[in-house]
Amino acid sequence: MTHAPLKVAIAGLGTVGVGTVKILQQHADLIRMRCGRPVVITAVCSRDQNRHRGVDLSNYQWFSDAAEMATQANADVIVELIGGSSGIAKNTVEAALAAGRHVVTANKALLAHHGLALAKLAESKGVSLNYEAAVAGGIPVIKSIREGLAGNAVTRVQGILNGTCNYILTTMRQEGRGFDDVLKDAQRLGYAEADPSFDIDGVDTAHKLAILASVAFGVEVNFNAVQVEGIRHISATDIQFAEELGYRIKLLGVASMSLDGIEQSVHPTMVPLSAPIAHVEGVFNAVVTDGDAVDSLMQEGRGAGEGPTASAVVADIVDIARGIHLPTFGVPVEKLKPSQARPMNLHTGAYYVRLMLVDQPGVFADVAAALRDHKVSMESMIQRVREPGESVPVVITTHITSESGMLAALDAIAKLDTVTEPPRMIRIESA
Ligand SMILES: NC(=O)c1ccc[n+]([C@@H]2O[C@H](COP(=O)([O-])OP(=O)(O)OC[C@H]3O[C@@H](n4cnc5c(N)ncnc54)[C@H](OP(=O)(O)O)[C@@H]3O)[C@@H](O)[C@H]2O)c1
Repeated sequence: MTHAPLKVAIAGLGTVGVGTVKILQQHADLIRMRCGRPVVITAVCSRDQNRHRGVDLSNYQWFSDAAEMATQANADVIVELIGGSSGIAKNTVEAALAAGRHVVTANKALLAHHGLALAKLAESKGVSLNYEAAVAGGIPVIKSIREGLAGNAVTRVQGILNGTCNYILTTMRQEGRGFDDVLKDAQRLGYAEADPSFDIDGVDTAHKLAILASVAFGVEVNFNAVQVEGIRHISATDIQFAEELGYRIKLLGVASMSLDGIEQSVHPTMVPLSAPIAHVEGVFNAVVTDGDAVDSLMQEGRGAGEGPTASAVVADIVDIARGIHLPTFGVPVEKLKPSQARPMNLHTGAYYVRLMLVDQPGVFADVAAALRDHKVSMESMIQRVREPGESVPVVITTHITSESGMLAALDAIAKLDTVTEPPRMIRIESA
C-alpha cells in the first residue's frame, strides 16, 4: 500500500464543501494515522472566489470551472459538492471518472437519476464512486448496508430521510399548529428552502430511497419506480387522531422486496408508538434495515447540516486513502438486476381514513356499505362530538386490506352527498 499523500480537489464550497475542508484541516493528523498516509487538499472550486468562507483556502489551487478542475487539478479524488442532477455537477463527475479519478459526492439527485451510468463509467475506469453523504447525511447507512450487512438478504429498508419534513410533522404535533404555519417557521429557521417543494412533496426522500433500494437489493437505481406522496395535505387534525389511536405520522421512504418485485414508495405513514422510528423527532433522520440474519436494525442521526454531511464525505475519502474499493451499489454493475417495480395497487396494509360527514341518519350505513362492497374491513371508528349543522370528522382504521380495494371504496365514499371533503387516507405501517 502506498504512503504517498492522497490528493483531493473539492468542487463546491457551500455548507458541505466548507464542512469538508474544515474536517480535513482540523483532523489532518487523525486522518493521516487512520489512513497510514496524509490526505491533502490541493485544489478547490466555487463560483465566487472573493467570498470569505471562514476557512483558509490560500494553499489550494483555485479553479473557476469545476469540470476543468476534474481533469486538470493535481488530484486523485474529485469531491463534487455543488448539487443538482444535471449541468455542472454531472459534467464534473463524468469528467473526473472518465479521467480515471475517484469521485466522492453528496449529490442524491445526481445518483438517483444517473447512478447506473455513472457506476458503469467508474467501474470501466477502475475507480470509486462514493456517496455516503447522499443518503441520511451523517448516518453511515450505505456503509452499513453494503459492508456491515453483507451477510444478509435484506427484505425491507425504510426511513425518515428528510429532516425538513420530520421537523414540520414533529412541530405540528408538539405545538398543535397547522402545516402552512410551521412551514413558514421552518423556512425562517433555515430548515426549509424558499422553494420547499423538493422536500415537502417527497422528491428528496424518493431520491434517497432509490439509492438505498439499489444497495439493499442489488438492483439498478430506478427513481421512476418510486411512488411519491408528500406531506402538504397532513392536517393538525390527522396528527391528533394519530396520537389518539397510538400512532405517529412520519414521512417514510419504504422499499420492500417481494416475489413479484420491489415496492418503493414515499408517503406519510402512521407508525405505532411502540416502534423506535416513531420517536425520531425534529430534524433527525433514521433508517431501519430488515435483514434475514440481523433482524431489524435502526440507525438514527443528523441527516443534514455542515458537520454531519461533511463527516460522511470525509469517511468516503478515507476509504479511498485506505485503498478500499467497492462496487458502487454493492455488486458489479453487470450483476445489478433490473428493478422490477411492484405497483402500489398491489400493496396490502392497514389504513387510516378521515372523512368529513354531514351528521344525519343513514350516513354511516352508506360508508359501511362502500367499505363492505370493496372488501375493506373496519377495525375501529372514532366520531367527534356533533356540532349542529356542521360536518364532523369521522376516523376509520381498517384491518389489512388491498390498496386497490381501499381506493375503490374511497372513490365510492367521496361520491356520497353527505361527504363534504375529499377523504384523507394514510397508510399504517406495522413497525
Ligand atoms: N446541506 C446539507 O445539509 C446537505 C446534506 C446532504 C447532502 N447535501 C448535498 O450536498 C451538495 C452540496 O450541498 P450544499 O448544501 O453544500 O450546497 P450549497 O451550500 O448551496 O453550496 C453549493 C456550492 O456549489 C457552488 N457552485 C454552484 N454552482 C457552481 C458552478 N457552476 N461551478 C462551481 N461551483 C458552483 C457554490 O458556489 P458559491 O459559494 O461560490 O456560490 C457553492 O459553494 C448537494 O448535492 C446537496 O444535495 C447537502
